[in-house]
Amino acid sequence: MLEKIIILDFGSQYTQLIARRVRELNVYCEIHPFNNIPEITSNVKGIILSGSPYSVRQEDAPQVDLKKFDNYPVLAVCYGAQYIAQQTGGEVQASSTREYGRANLNYVAESNKLFKNIALDSQVWMSHGDTITKIPESFELIASTDSVKVAAYQVKGTATYAIQFHPEVTHSTDGKQLLENFLVDICGCKQEWTPDAFVETTIAALQQQLGDDKVVLALSGGVDSSVAAILLHKAIGKNLHCIFVDNGLLRKDEYAAVLEQYKHLGLNIKGVDAKDRFLSQLAGLSDPELKRKAIGRVFIEVFDDEAHQVQDVKWLAQGTIYPDIIESVSVKGPSATIKSHHNVGGLPDFMKLKVVEPLNTLFKDEVRRVGRSLGLEHFIIGRHPFPGPGLAIRILGEVTAEKVSILQEADAIYINNLKEAGLYDKVWQAGAIFLPVQSVGVMGDERTYENAIALRAVESVDGMTADWCHLPYNVLAKISNEIINKVKGINRVVYDISSKPPATIEWE
Ligand code: XMP
Repeated sequence: MLEKIIILDFGSQYTQLIARRVRELNVYCEIHPFNNIPEITSNVKGIILSGSPYSVRQEDAPQVDLKKFDNYPVLAVCYGAQYIAQQTGGEVQASSTREYGRANLNYVAESNKLFKNIALDSQVWMSHGDTITKIPESFELIASTDSVKVAAYQVKGTATYAIQFHPEVTHSTDGKQLLENFLVDICGCKQEWTPDAFVETTIAALQQQLGDDKVVLALSGGVDSSVAAILLHKAIGKNLHCIFVDNGLLRKDEYAAVLEQYKHLGLNIKGVDAKDRFLSQLAGLSDPELKRKAIGRVFIEVFDDEAHQVQDVKWLAQGTIYPDIIESVSVKGPSATIKSHHNVGGLPDFMKLKVVEPLNTLFKDEVRRVGRSLGLEHFIIGRHPFPGPGLAIRILGEVTAEKVSILQEADAIYINNLKEAGLYDKVWQAGAIFLPVQSVGVMGDERTYENAIALRAVESVDGMTADWCHLPYNVLAKISNEIINKVKGINRVVYDISSKPPATIEWE
């Protein structure tokens, strides 16, 4: 059975980052909320306790029964470290100042397994309001910084380790080494979780699960649904029926290019031109939520019509990924809620199909790596994320065929220039936004009074937070000139310099 690490989430902003680091070390892990601990099966090699926005001194602070982990290696991070200390007779007090930022280790128990190959003076990332001021006799101090004496401890004679700093943050320069020491030397993990191994086991599991059943899948042209399709195609071949809907809200020429690519991959795919159906339902709608709902509704209608044409279909496949389904710990109260996401929940009940989601254990960057391992071309793997409702949420207010066409032209100029300048792959997501705001311009000898295009480009690792890209001025200048000269209806181009949070990537 696949060996795994359980990460117990106490609500820290860094929990997913811990999981990503563990996976980068080729060890499979799962995040579970502290108040919904799964059964700890024999393939669990160790437990990681996350940080938390709570203080262990708060009455409503998250609690767990530590006895459950008695026979397992434990690495407790930040809140987790304070929690174990407090529960075992140590002391945790409010620091006079909240410590946030870099610190250096000034003491390391060199022979301790957790600190193998970690030098004295190693930089660590601190983020805590409370400090462990006393540890019981049964704990051994294994690292300190100038301001925090108990930067790390081991419960003597056990495989329970705790650290005050955050090894998952890249500013902890030896953080990855520390995690590897825990996973390999302490938990005995074999580091066999690789994209190739994932592909092999997933294809075998899909064959077992699906047998000779037929499966339908809606392809979007994006990375997730494409990778899901290829995995299923390798597992069940022609029994996978893919449907690719042209909602009229895709990028310029995208429908034809993507459909061609999919056919080239050998997929059993049907393209459906539903442009008019979508546009007619969007007429008169300017509220973003109403637009999203209309698009979702028409999509389901179109998809359902098509799916019904496949005889005896039993399954619906979806490209859902792990961040879509992680049960998150609510910071406001320790109740677990399922995170809602744009892409989840659109399932029509009336289709009564069983659902298969081959990527629901993967993070986005892992989906890309699996795609590469499957030999998917850069054309698909390297595509920027694109919202399901497409250009409809990049046209502020009402969507019309004319506005879609203007935006497609402007967006194509933008994206092509990024590609030509070698910038496309450095950007997480870029897109043009149609602003129905008229302003004055001069074209030739004439005064114009036309619309504006905003350009957005962000850097991100996961889409959860993002910063605007510092695109070179000369590239921006070229894009702006080309859009204003070539796209009729646009006489002004602006650049969006908001980061996320507090702004979101999309404008609607
Ligand atoms: P925001 O604007 O929420 O975007 O910062 C985060 C990521 O989600 C995408 N996005 C959507 N995807 N349906 C989707 O399938 C939607 O309604 C939707 N809204 C935003 C967005 O493009 C970005 O990648």
